Amino acid sequence: MSVEGARRAVTTYRLKEMKARGEKISMLTAYDYTMAQIVDNAGVDVILVGDSAANVLAGFQTTLPMTLDHMIYHGQSVTRGVKKALVVVDMPFGTYQGNSLAALASAIRIMKETEADCIKLEGGSEVLDSVERILTAGIPVMGHLGLTPQSINKYGTYAVRAKGQEEADKLFEDALLLEKAGCCAVVLEKIPAELSKRVAEALTIPVIGIGAGGDVDGQVLVIHDMLGINNEFSPRFLRRYADLFTIMTEAVQSYCADVKSGDFPNESEQY
Ligand code: KIV
Repeated sequence: MSVEGARRAVTTYRLKEMKARGEKISMLTAYDYTMAQIVDNAGVDVILVGDSAANVLAGFQTTLPMTLDHMIYHGQSVTRGVKKALVVVDMPFGTYQGNSLAALASAIRIMKETEADCIKLEGGSEVLDSVERILTAGIPVMGHLGLTPQSINKYGTYAVRAKGQEEADKLFEDALLLEKAGCCAVVLEKIPAELSKRVAEALTIPVIGIGAGGDVDGQVLVIHDMLGINNEFSPRFLRRYADLFTIMTEAVQSYCADVKSGDFPNESEQY
C-alpha cells in the first residue's frame, strides 16, 4: 500500500504495517545512482545510504572521516535513482552528538538537499536529545544500536557487542527509549541473536538486523559485501550472493587482452 502523496511507495508507515503483519523487511546499502536503480528495481524495501561508503567507496579504515557534504552527495545520487524504496541517509560522525540544535540543522540539510525519506544515527540515551529534536521537525529517525562503527575508537574492536548482561540491559533500555521518543525503526548490529529477538518482541517499531540473527523484522547488508565486490571482509553473518570481484577482474583482464591484441574495437564497434 502506498500513502497518497508520498514520493515513494515504501514509507515509514508501511514499515510499521509490515512489522504488524509479520512481513520481513529487506534493506541494502547503495551510494550511487546506478546501484540505487538496480537495488530499487530488484524490489528491496529500504535503501540505506550508509556511512559505510567511507570503507567500501573511499577506502577509509573507519566511518569517522565522512562529512555531511559527502553524505549529501551520496544521498542525492541515490534518490535520483529510486522510485519505490524508502531512502535512509546516515548522519555522519560529529553531526549529531552532543548538540541537538546542530543535529537538527544537519538533519534538515540532509532532508532538503537529498530528498531522502529518513535519517539514521547511532546510539541510545547518549543521543536522545538529538533524536527528540530532529523528530520535532517531522523528520523520521532510524536508530542504530549494538556495534556502532562511529564509536570504534571507544570499543577498540569490531567484535560482537552486548554479550555481557550490563551491556545487553543497556541496549534493551536504549531500544525502548528510541521507540518511546518516536523513532520509526532500529538497526541492531552484531549482537547475540537471543537479545535481538527479545528487542524485536518488545518493540512495535521494526527491528532490522545485521549480524543479529533471524528473529527480527528485517535484514540489512552492505551491497559491496553481499555482491562479493569487496572480498576483504568475511564476517560470519555475511552471505555472499555473487562473486563480482572475480567476474569484474576477469572482465577487465579480457578487455586489457583485447586492447593489447588489437581485437577491440572490431569493425562493428567503430564508425
Ligand atoms: O553504514 C552502514 O552501512 C550501516 C549498516 C551496516 C547498517 O550503518
